[in-house]
Amino acid sequence: MYSWSLLLTLAILSTALAAPSSSETSSAPAPSPTVPYASDDPNYPLWNLDSDITPEPIRGGSGATILGPQNRLLDLQNPDALAPPTTDNGDVPNFKWPFSLSHNRLYTGGWARGQNVKDVPCATDIAAVNMRLEAGAIREMHWHIDAEWAYMLAGYVRVSTVTPDGKVYLADVGPGDLWYFPAGFPHNIQAKNTTEEGAEFLLIFDSGSFSEDSTFLLIDWLAHVPKEVIAKNFQVDTSAFDHIPSRGLFIFPSDPPPPNAIDDMVVPNDTPVNYTFPLSQVNGTKSAGGTYKVVDSTMFTASTTISAAEITVEVNGTRELHWHPTEPEWTYFISGEARISVYASSSNARTSDFQAGDIAYIPPTFGHYVENTGNTTLKFLEIFKSGLFRDVSLSQWLALTPPEHVKAHLQVDDATIAKFSRDKQVVVGPAQPAPTYARSQSLKSQLHTETDSLDAYSPHVRNLPRGFGEK
Ligand SMILES: *[C@@H]1O[C@H](CO)[C@@H](O)[C@H](O)[C@H]1NC(C)=O
Ligand SMILES: *[C@@H]1O[C@H](CO)[C@@H](O)[C@H](O)[C@H]1NC(C)=O
Ligand SMILES: *[C@@H]1O[C@H](CO)[C@@H](O)[C@H](O)[C@H]1NC(C)=O
Ligand SMILES: *[C@@H]1O[C@H](CO)[C@@H](O)[C@H](O)[C@H]1NC(C)=O
Ligand SMILES: *[C@@H]1O[C@H](CO)[C@@H](O)[C@H](O)[C@H]1NC(C)=O
Repeated sequence: MYSWSLLLTLAILSTALAAPSSSETSSAPAPSPTVPYASDDPNYPLWNLDSDITPEPIRGGSGATILGPQNRLLDLQNPDALAPPTTDNGDVPNFKWPFSLSHNRLYTGGWARGQNVKDVPCATDIAAVNMRLEAGAIREMHWHIDAEWAYMLAGYVRVSTVTPDGKVYLADVGPGDLWYFPAGFPHNIQAKNTTEEGAEFLLIFDSGSFSEDSTFLLIDWLAHVPKEVIAKNFQVDTSAFDHIPSRGLFIFPSDPPPPNAIDDMVVPNDTPVNYTFPLSQVNGTKSAGGTYKVVDSTMFTASTTISAAEITVEVNGTRELHWHPTEPEWTYFISGEARISVYASSSNARTSDFQAGDIAYIPPTFGHYVENTGNTTLKFLEIFKSGLFRDVSLSQWLALTPPEHVKAHLQVDDATIAKFSRDKQVVVGPAQPAPTYARSQSLKSQLHTETDSLDAYSPHVRNLPRGFGEK
């Protein structure tokens, strides 16, 4: 049993001892390892949701077929749950949630489904709602205890707020745009009729315990205030409020607002900051394997508790190995297929697979990557409970650390060190020609043939089907 600190001490000691004699040769052989090398099994996902197979919990020499019942469709979506990479270990809490498992609320005019800490127990700092409004439909005027950040998925809505000091902000947002309302600010949301279908958006709250069931609603409040108090408050007869509904409506149909925002304004906008942000008009930064757009309070001033990155990853590309120093991350998949492994310290790691509409939650400091495992461009959002976007790139850390120090740990050669990027790459391309897979109906027979002659630590899954490639 070696502890990491002992290993580190040994590594540093051996470097120090070797230094005087090997200072002229920067590619001196690394010191002998004190533990066996890590497995060279590439640990590819063994299938994807398009694979024409019945998935089995078998990887290499481990596992066995399923004799009992099987939810084949869920297993197709989750290859790294049923047959995890051998690098997974320990007891890492679940960090995946599909909105498809959320309990939806249906209304005339739309729907809303949420995810919070009750669904994903580790998601203590961010909760979310996916909401749909038909053209003209209104999300009842409301406010809540947490701040709200939103990303438009489709269509156009008009949003507005009145701040505690009586300033006004009203604006329209479309696909890929954002809004942010600080905690407790009243706000109004209505779908425009720019597209006849109305709109759909993602709402992010800066607390894991937020629930759509506990928002403060205009009608719901007034239905619970004595009528004579309402009359005194507004200096009208009680009969003026004869037709308020007896409870909140949450979502309800209405006529669409006038097309131009300016025609809907009671007074011109006069807040010192904007509460919407046209992210769709920002060009993504190109990276080796995709693009990224970062949006935080340095450009979207109002958004002091939430920041985000909108990322695309091309086929076979990967969002590089990294972590976020103190910020919890809530991830949302917009299109494509992906897998994420989180590293939770103490040898603990867990891998999950994601499709469009799925959520991941990555606690602060957990190392992770996001790999495009599909055959289309992967698009996703990284959303943080922080006004500032920050990440630590593993490649950059290694590239900017004295090479001998890095070699003492990883026993890599100079050519490999030279590949570490001093600039943050964010999204990296495919490292080498990826293996070719056959589309297969007989995963089991291939697995058994492949594994008969190989031990559990050989790269024997290299030629297994992944569900795409040759037909
Ligand atoms: C991606 O995979 C799906 C399912 O196997 C297939 O129908 C589609 O043609 C593939 N697309 C490309 C671009 O290869
Ligand atoms: C939206 O606009 C279209 C075209 O102008 C119209 O046919 C439709 O009735 C409108 N929908 C609503 C809900 O007003
Ligand atoms: C706020 O929005 C207005 C209207 O879109 C725009 O002209 C202005 O530049 C924005 N201000 C900031 C600080 O982004
Ligand atoms: C964004 O990219 C488009 C197309 O390349 C270009 O026309 C436009 O000027 C760019 N916008 C900004 C703000 O850089
Ligand atoms: C991605 O990898 C697959 C096999 O794993 C290969 O068939 C395909 O050509 C690669 N695509 C790109 C765009 O690199």
